[in-house]
Amino acid sequence: MEDQAEKLREIMRKKPGASRRTESSQKTESNTKETGDARGSAENRMSGLLPRKGSKTRIITITSGKGGVGKTNVSVNMALAYARLGKKVVVMDADLGLANVNIMLNMVPRFNLYDMIRKGKAMKDIIAETDYGISIVAGALGISQIANLSDEERHNFIGELDTLSFADTIIIDTSAGVSNNVLDFIAAADDAVIVTTPEPTAILDAYALVKTIVRRDASHPLHVLINKCESRKEAERTQEGFVEVVGRHLGKNINPLGLIMYNHDVPLSIKRQTPFEVSDPGCTTAKEIDIIARALLDLPDGRSKNSILSKIFTRILGDRGNTY
Ligand SMILES: Nc1ncnc2c1ncn2[C@@H]1O[C@H](COP(=O)(O)OP(=O)(O)OP(=O)(O)O)[C@@H](O)[C@H]1O
Ligand SMILES: [Mg+2]
Repeated sequence: MEDQAEKLREIMRKKPGASRRTESSQKTESNTKETGDARGSAENRMSGLLPRKGSKTRIITITSGKGGVGKTNVSVNMALAYARLGKKVVVMDADLGLANVNIMLNMVPRFNLYDMIRKGKAMKDIIAETDYGISIVAGALGISQIANLSDEERHNFIGELDTLSFADTIIIDTSAGVSNNVLDFIAAADDAVIVTTPEPTAILDAYALVKTIVRRDASHPLHVLINKCESRKEAERTQEGFVEVVGRHLGKNINPLGLIMYNHDVPLSIKRQTPFEVSDPGCTTAKEIDIIARALLDLPDGRSKNSILSKIFTRILGDRGNTY
């Protein structure tokens, strides 16, 4: 454990030098490699990265116990809802090994997380603008070996979030289940949204995930979001039951963030690779997402006004800090 703490401190000590290196490598790259549109988008990326005075980035991690419950769909459409509210938003596809966010947006980004994790690119070098006013950090499609990061790789990766401080909101779309990757992305976030469907298997897996999170850090702000509900009654019953069981057995107050009904148009929008917040912003599901996005925004960000990096590392080290 001491080794890990020392590694984290080392990463924090290295940070300023690391970002200087990043800036110069970015200049070199835009001078030598970028052409035409690519250069334009690199300049956009650069201008977007200017620190805004007094800016405060909210990091929202969207996660689940069971797979296929709708995390990526919620992440992308919630990001678009925030963009419509005038927010600068970055969606990070942290489902390492299975990149979905760029596919939902019909994009082939030039760089992805593999370039950052294994090829030394900085996070801000791999950000891609979309046509819809949000930026994405694409996942590493089909490269399953990066699903298992070492502690150092993972903490370096999470530390790179600090370079996204130009954003008002960072939405991290994780893979399903309890892994160190997912737990650290949750720890790094201001808010963790646990997505589940009303199916008993999904509920049980969501409960197991919440239990693990609460054991690590009982005070972490947690929200539950019920997706693919067949009826409002079923949705409300599931939500109330989940909140009640988590409160009774884990002593944790989990916030009932909202409900999304099953809608046949959602899989269709994925097939068409155009999110419904873009193609049909007035549809029922878009309205449900809008309500959820605003509800989260209206809740106070319980974390301090420190820089993202210090928030992230206070959180990660703090989780295990008692043992050091
Ligand atoms: N509200 C909804 N109504 C109908 N279908 C939905 C709804 N939300 C998501 N889906 C469908 O569920 C499937 C899984 O969605 P998505 O990929 O967002 O889940 P995920 O939790 O990110 O999955 P994974 O764990 O594999 O990353 C998709 O086919 C999507 O169209
Ligand atoms: Mg997904």
